[in-house]
Amino acid sequence: MNLLEVKSICKTYGSGEAAVHALNDISFTVPKGEFVAVVGESGSGKSTLLNMLGALDTPTSGKVFIDGNDTFKMKENQLTVFRRRNIGFIFQAFNLIPELTVEQNIIFPVLLDYQRPNEKYLEELLTVLNLKERRHYLPSQLSGGQQQRVAIGRALITRPSLILADEPTGNLDSQNSSEVIALLKEASRKYEQTIVMITHSKSIAQTADRVLLVSDGTLTDFGRCRE
Ligand SMILES: Nc1ncnc2c1ncn2[C@@H]1O[C@H](COP(=O)(O)OP(=O)(O)OP(=O)(O)O)[C@@H](O)[C@H]1O
Ligand SMILES: [Mg+2]
Repeated sequence: MNLLEVKSICKTYGSGEAAVHALNDISFTVPKGEFVAVVGESGSGKSTLLNMLGALDTPTSGKVFIDGNDTFKMKENQLTVFRRRNIGFIFQAFNLIPELTVEQNIIFPVLLDYQRPNEKYLEELLTVLNLKERRHYLPSQLSGGQQQRVAIGRALITRPSLILADEPTGNLDSQNSSEVIALLKEASRKYEQTIVMITHSKSIAQTADRVLLVSDGTLTDFGRCRE
């Protein structure tokens, strides 16, 4: 089953002579549970594409289906709830809330949804992300890698079916990045979550199930890169 279905997405910023055609007719599908790496030069349209997948911005034309749901057909408040429950975002900037502890930051999206966190899953996440001993620390008391692991925990706590990551290890050294990626994969494999991750790192792209190249707003699918 395809978790993600992207149909003829075009995105043009501005109009007339100033128009930037950031995405030109992009279509692809991602089966449930697949880990897709998105690569490409700076300015090629990767973040624009990811924003469309997560319905953070609307395309000029085209459709995106997540688990069969036509996201651009939803009303804004419906979309906000859908996003919160089904998509986990991880960005290069960790965007943690400085006044909240590790644990409070991780469960924040659950509280936003007026739900109670699943204590067992929270413990599991803290263990997998190696944050158990830091659970009562504030972000300012953590290293960069630890902060990014908190951001990953926050993206995973709602068990979203889709995880969208825009250079999640851009601020980390190579040792920390491979650890963070390994943890993300371990956590997502367990719940058959689909990951679409933009990365500039060749070594991370090599560990993905599939690599998509964006160049000048068009997409090339390199297919499965592992035997
Ligand atoms: N809000 C905007 N208004 C106008 N043009 C934009 C806007 N956002 C992006 N663009 C343009 O769209 C193109 C694609 O930008 P995008 O941010 O998707 O690139 P990227 O592949 O993510 O690059 P990087 O690797 O540097 O993050 C660029 O030419 C950029 O200038
Ligand atoms: Mg970008």
